Amino acid sequence: MGSTMCRSFTVSPAMLKRRHVLDLDDFAAAEIELILNVGLSMREVLDRPIRRAPALRGRTVINMFYEASTRTRVSFELAAKTLSADVVNVSASGSSVEKGESIVDTIRTLEALGADTIVIRHGRSGAPYLAARNTSATVINAGDGWHAHPTQALLDLFTLRARFGRLKGLSVVIVGDVLHSRVARSNIWGLTICGAHVTLCAPHTLLPASGQAGCVGLPPVRVEPDLARALDGAHAVMALRMQHERQEGALIPNLREYVSRYQITRARLTRARPDALVLHPGPLNEGIELAPDIVMSDRSVIQDQVTNGVAIRMALLYLLHGDRDVEI
Ligand code: CP
Repeated sequence: MGSTMCRSFTVSPAMLKRRHVLDLDDFAAAEIELILNVGLSMREVLDRPIRRAPALRGRTVINMFYEASTRTRVSFELAAKTLSADVVNVSASGSSVEKGESIVDTIRTLEALGADTIVIRHGRSGAPYLAARNTSATVINAGDGWHAHPTQALLDLFTLRARFGRLKGLSVVIVGDVLHSRVARSNIWGLTICGAHVTLCAPHTLLPASGQAGCVGLPPVRVEPDLARALDGAHAVMALRMQHERQEGALIPNLREYVSRYQITRARLTRARPDALVLHPGPLNEGIELAPDIVMSDRSVIQDQVTNGVAIRMALLYLLHGDRDVEI
């Protein structure tokens, strides 16, 4: 950001033909490509001296967060405000959820208050699906339990495509606590749909259950528990946060052992391509998933991921609710 480019444009009228965004598992490659392309246009809006476009004027976006968030909540708020929507942020703490109100009652209440779009994060897998079944508003999943985080995956795809110019044929290694990671699940779907090759690397205790056709409920991926072998020739490595809050038992011997086998270090990255990128969805466990000198290195695109999150969420809000042919 920070350029003075100020070019107005009209986004493609080929809007997204769906009401909700709950995961990427039912997306076609063309839909993902449309969102990433519109995301590029939204990056231009963010580069303007005055970051405002009228596309969502008169629309109301309500961010309903039952679980902690910094990146997702703030970027949805900025995305909606940049497109001139009215934005209301609600967290479970301080709302009637504390008095025992159900998800369905809360969603119906937000709809009655005028919500066109409800962005929901919830600690329970499936909560956004329940919300979507009980409202005529648009529902966007901002992360549900272990299940899905589609907008994080879209911003990760956007970040990879921006650097490599394509997704098809890229080799992407996802390292760490895959079992508890909604980010990993949505990325596995998104990357696979777009033609990238995914390798999962983790101790067996942190991998999803496997069946005859691979990981249960996921498209086919390569599983390689040895990090050096997994990284061989990779274009990108996505390190996942160790999700202590979702681990019910001791799934690794100890963190020191995990770090010694799975932390991404400069030495380990030499197995990947010379231009390989390091991604992390955040928040980081400092000194665990990534060596400290990797975090701010030229290999890391963690800051780009955060910035791109605003553009991708603008693209989604626009495609789901923007007026056709409005000049942005
Ligand atoms: N990546 C991500 O979802 O971060 P937050 O929990 O800060 O939103």
